Amino acid sequence: MSQTIRSPQRLAGTLAVPGDKSVSHRSLILNAIARGAATVTGLSDGADVRSTAACLRAMGVAIDPLDEPGSFRVAGPGPNLNEPADMLDAGNSGTSMRLLSGLLAGQDFLSVLTGDGSLRSRPMARIVRPLQQMGAAIMGRGGDTLAPLAIRGGSLRSIEYTMPVASAQVKSCLMLAGLSAPGPTVLRQPALSRDHTERMMTAMGARVEADGLALTLHPAELQAVNVAVPGDISSAAFWMVAGLIHPNARVTITGVGLNPSRAGIIDALQMMGAGDALRLENERVEGGEPVADVVASSGSLRGIELGGDIIPIMIDELPVLAVAACFAAGDTVIRDAAELRVKESDRIATTVSELTRLGGLLEPREDGMVIHGTGRLTGAPVESHGDHRLAMSMAVAGLAASGATVIHGAGDASVSYPTFWEHLASLTGEQ
Ligand code: S3P
Repeated sequence: MSQTIRSPQRLAGTLAVPGDKSVSHRSLILNAIARGAATVTGLSDGADVRSTAACLRAMGVAIDPLDEPGSFRVAGPGPNLNEPADMLDAGNSGTSMRLLSGLLAGQDFLSVLTGDGSLRSRPMARIVRPLQQMGAAIMGRGGDTLAPLAIRGGSLRSIEYTMPVASAQVKSCLMLAGLSAPGPTVLRQPALSRDHTERMMTAMGARVEADGLALTLHPAELQAVNVAVPGDISSAAFWMVAGLIHPNARVTITGVGLNPSRAGIIDALQMMGAGDALRLENERVEGGEPVADVVASSGSLRGIELGGDIIPIMIDELPVLAVAACFAAGDTVIRDAAELRVKESDRIATTVSELTRLGGLLEPREDGMVIHGTGRLTGAPVESHGDHRLAMSMAVAGLAASGATVIHGAGDASVSYPTFWEHLASLTGEQ
């Protein structure tokens, strides 16, 4: 599927983005092994979360839709799931594969996890090695570095582990395994990453102690909790940038989750000089997470240097930040972001190549990129490279570029944001 985008006269409207993908995965996985049943509202309907739901259903977890769209009743068979009769397919979703691996390491049966071509090329040693240290029997292709992963779960040892990467997926994988270890699991993080697992496990009765970058999880049997999933800031980021770079825009995104471990994009855009053009309204707390409406209108941006601790808390927003940087005055330098190379695509290579096709001036670096802001892009054909966030970032670029931008692989957006193209049409007045 391809989509052709032209810059509209005006970009305006109010919309609610899908439920947060990270919170959605966790609401299903943690409630699946908890005692009791829970209601989840606002669940993401993206393909990634559907992959997690399908894997859990294959292990005896009931995930049943309720009357309200996006609402589900989740009831697992208890802390012990049923052995799946076939391979579990995580599709395109790194979160499904890595979190479920941690869960399955503690389950007394055989499971095999696979995924699409992109996921089968992404690094799994980062979870396999520490799970093996915990005593899990887990094997994968390429010397246990790649999926498919075969796991014979069973009893585990407690470990103290220094994580080489600031990854919430690795952290959450080991926390899930740690639930069934005999004693505390201690994880030392190189930097803070999203903390939804810590928050949800705590709400479910587990003891999770954070001391700076160290985290201690005590083994626990979880109790089911209802989860109200906030709007996904990673999806909202597309409209924030679109509003800021379009010359005649005012876009309101309602109910956006602003957990501090996710909100780096707001800080980065403020550092770029967004000021009042990016405002938070109706700030409130819903389901234990800070939430607000975000209003983005035409602004003028300047280049910045971005690196260090902010990177893990806006890792998924860096491609669309690069789009903003093309429209900023001066250079933007992104460093300490080598993790971008092992996402759904090599996002350093793909962001640079596709924005270059639109006339952007970018240079790849081993751990990031330099973007020379010129204030303009010119429409051209671009590719998604099988990456949902790249497809949507190119659409945002197209909303402010001159001429027509044709996005090949536009359907990939449905991995996290199935209504993206409808929402775009509603903002441009085509619907
Ligand atoms: C996620 C963590 C991030 C992020 C991904 C979702 C999660 O990956 O890129 O989209 O839900 O834990 P890493 O933690 O591996 O950086």
